[in-house]
Amino acid sequence: MQKLAIQGGNRLNGEVRISGAKNAALPIMCAALLTADELRLDNMPDLHDVATMRKLLEQMGVKAVLQGNQMTLHGAHVDKLEAPYDMVKTMRAAVLVLGPLVARFGEARVSLPGGCAIGSRPVDLHIKGLQAMGAEISIEHGYIHARAKRLKGARIFFDIVSVTGTENLMMAATLADGVTLLENAAREPEVVDLAHCLRAMGAKISGDGTDTITITGADKLHGASHRIMPDRIESGTFLVAAAASGGSITLTDTRADILDTVLEKLTEAGAQIRVEGDRIHLQMNGRPKSVNLRTAPYPAFPTDMQAQFMALNTIAEGSAMMVETIFENRFMHVQEMRRLGAQIDIEGNTALVRGVTHLEGATVMATDLRASASLVIAGLVAQGETVIDRIYHLDRGYEHIEAKLSQLGANIRRIK
Ligand code: EPZ
Repeated sequence: MQKLAIQGGNRLNGEVRISGAKNAALPIMCAALLTADELRLDNMPDLHDVATMRKLLEQMGVKAVLQGNQMTLHGAHVDKLEAPYDMVKTMRAAVLVLGPLVARFGEARVSLPGGCAIGSRPVDLHIKGLQAMGAEISIEHGYIHARAKRLKGARIFFDIVSVTGTENLMMAATLADGVTLLENAAREPEVVDLAHCLRAMGAKISGDGTDTITITGADKLHGASHRIMPDRIESGTFLVAAAASGGSITLTDTRADILDTVLEKLTEAGAQIRVEGDRIHLQMNGRPKSVNLRTAPYPAFPTDMQAQFMALNTIAEGSAMMVETIFENRFMHVQEMRRLGAQIDIEGNTALVRGVTHLEGATVMATDLRASASLVIAGLVAQGETVIDRIYHLDRGYEHIEAKLSQLGANIRRIK
């Protein structure tokens, strides 16, 4: 089990390049199942989840060649229409093969995702949407078994905003017979990036980025090239780390227009932020101020940034109310932060964080991807050494994080 050892107290300074977005790369890799032609993807991030998705697609018969950060996927010879439990249990995003498989091949067997650390995370909305499009679906031995001669366009209303639910059904609808309307759809930028890629493949999609997406099905899609958008959560994570450490950093190859609420909250915490094209500069002088926040679907404050902001609030001046409205159990990092001396009380889905003047290094355990990022931030500012265990969670979603942080002046190293 690998660990990270961090000596706290260094200010982060310098420049860091932001990688391609994990949550855009994963659905877009599944889009390769929708065509027999080649899909060429640029700016792919080197992440564990991307490697897992690649393995899953290769098991199905997709050819996937990676050269640097360019991946070429070729779905001409898909011969296995299944996502097995051992894959889906480690990566819930594997459910994103369901829509494309049923749309192009008329059948799919996808394991139900197990629960995960941050909540039950069912896929009932994915299933309901496919049934509305005419798929016959049965749940047998923990697998979703879906069949359809040809999916038909349908009007689908999401009673909960679901990012991968929207992505799965948008992909399925691109080959359905007729028009599909997705209402109360997710507006996340990663949904829009997927729509850009699908349009490049010949799909007819409009309204992506709003809560109503219209897709007119085609008989087939063709190959395309697409550059994966920058990772807004990696961007936010580095900005919060720099703010917590009282440093001054510049992000490159990123986008500020999809980080409004995060930049606003960082400004409220006392950071100076300057945007220049695809670069974001952050300068933090002195101790941050506490910031209240409430997570909600895009464009509101992202749930994937809640744990990181909590780390900032633990050492801020004042007290902060943090409300998590998306997942029922996304405070797993709280008890670990308490080990570092943080003062946090939880009441249901609300955490009250009272800022302390300093944290003290300790051994802590990562429980999920973003929680582990928040523990890295806490370790960067804690006095003494912090050792974080189970950092495989971190490697799922952050490309070479300790190399990037060391480059910014952090004293951080991976220990076996
Ligand atoms: C996506 O997960 C992201 N993952 C998550 O990022 C992110 O936290 C989440 O969206 C919310 O923004 C990817 O894009 C690969 P949801 P997803 O469906 O799609 C409930 C990270 O750190 N729901 O939007 O799985 C669900 O339980 C990861 O990179 C149903 O009830 O999340 C949750 O409470 C973590 N039924 C809420 O909706 C369904 O069929 C939002 O879930 C689907 C979802």
